[in-house]
Amino acid sequence: MKILFIADIVGGPGRKVVRELLPGIKERNDIDFCIVNGENAAGGFGLTEEITDELFSQGIDVITSGNHIWDRKEIASYLQSEPRLLRPVNYPAENPGRGSGVYQAGNGVQVGVINLQGRVFMKEIDCPFHTVIPVIHKLKEQTNLILVDFHGEATAEKVAMGWYLDGQVAALIGTHTHVQTADERVLPGGTGYISDAGMCGGTDGVIGIKKELAIRRFITQTPNRFQPEDKNLVMMGVILTVDPQSCRTEKIERFQIPRSQAENNG
Ligand SMILES: [Fe+2]
Ligand SMILES: [Fe+2]
Repeated sequence: MKILFIADIVGGPGRKVVRELLPGIKERNDIDFCIVNGENAAGGFGLTEEITDELFSQGIDVITSGNHIWDRKEIASYLQSEPRLLRPVNYPAENPGRGSGVYQAGNGVQVGVINLQGRVFMKEIDCPFHTVIPVIHKLKEQTNLILVDFHGEATAEKVAMGWYLDGQVAALIGTHTHVQTADERVLPGGTGYISDAGMCGGTDGVIGIKKELAIRRFITQTPNRFQPEDKNLVMMGVILTVDPQSCRTEKIERFQIPRSQAENNG
């Protein structure tokens, strides 16, 4: 079966490129299940209920997130009520929402998804290594086909988690840096791995934000209002070919598709 993972959607430009390119990539690749990371989908920061519904209506099965999920307070109640919207599982339990779930793919296979977050150069939340094992055991009561979105800043932490979970999960896909890495591979135990899947949005900016604004913040060291970059739109992610019997990944392919390739470019 084929599983599509779409990297962090950054603001309106990111949503636009996904809206235009998603139907084509799903059809060409016979996709059975689709995950997106939506932590930056609302103006670059967080998510709203309206945007979440818009993504689900486009045929996305699960939305994962990360540190930016908390940027908009109004998402808290939706995190509680919508099981297809995940926040990192290793935030302290007092927070709203959930970090894992089991969902049915288009071909009827049950797919477990875990959203996990690193803590190197990030908030010192609960240890992802200690937290993830009992979560995997719990999901395995329902399915052995499990995918992890590991949202982290440090490449080494993500590489270490890949080896730690090799053979335990079908794939571990890194997110958060918005820069796609060229290290995709299937680990010896059958876990598909990439350190970072990239992003969806304007690649003429600084990880999806208008470059002039990002540069100004680095120079002045004072806050300014960020806006998503809207030039050179690209959709990035990976496609996994997974054997639903063994729950091992057979192939992982990364992609970067420019908006100019949209079948309907209106
Ligand atoms: Fe992000
Ligand atoms: Fe992030």
